[in-house]
Amino acid sequence: MSARRLDQILSRYGYCSRSEAREWIRAGRVTLDGAPAKSADEKVPLEKVRVDGEPIELPDGILALLHKPAGFVCSHDASEGPTIYDLLPARWLKRNPPVTTIGRLDKDTTGVLLVTDAGELVQRWTSPKHKVPKIYEVTLDRDLESSLIAVFASGDLLLQGEAKPCRPAKLEIIGPREARLELMEGLYHQVKRMFANQGWHVVKLHRSRFGTYELGDLKPDAWRLLPLPEKLCNP
Ligand code: URA
Repeated sequence: MSARRLDQILSRYGYCSRSEAREWIRAGRVTLDGAPAKSADEKVPLEKVRVDGEPIELPDGILALLHKPAGFVCSHDASEGPTIYDLLPARWLKRNPPVTTIGRLDKDTTGVLLVTDAGELVQRWTSPKHKVPKIYEVTLDRDLESSLIAVFASGDLLLQGEAKPCRPAKLEIIGPREARLELMEGLYHQVKRMFANQGWHVVKLHRSRFGTYELGDLKPDAWRLLPLPEKLCNP
């Protein structure tokens, strides 16, 4: 890994601002190969740096899966209610760039939500070009009709305000009011709008899969780190 200014390293990884770095160094909190660091503008290899005795956290970047609980918004704006960022380590938000969600879930939606500090991943996995499958478990307000399967699969369902119809989506009816829907895109409130367009109201929505990622035994509110995809280095 190439050498970088110490103050840049400390701010990139969310320890302190570049201006605070001098203070941290003066206080002896930063060491290089075991010896106290001397200067904020010194260029050093990342792996030699220790802060409060610990190596730099997640130097290659962050990709994590959060089991989003209901009642949390995917926004940095706390005026909209508790945010999913309250559930993650505070330092992840102070990184530069900070972590952000890969797509969004509504406040009342639960399930798989990915967060990353790698902008390239956000672009790649939210772009309709890449066709990342998303699976939703849906509870409706009244009994389903099998005719919906063909409507959603048709590729002709045009939602209000959209220029193009929804891509073909796979609907599986698994109970009188329970369905599983697989989407290859992520329009705003797409699941709720697709059902509303046909006269159903979604009363509960849970995302059980994003791409190949599933919750496994992860409890609501909890997160786990995922390996960064190959070739993605985001120092
Ligand atoms: N579709 C919705 O309507 N809401 C979500 O949270 C996700 C997909």
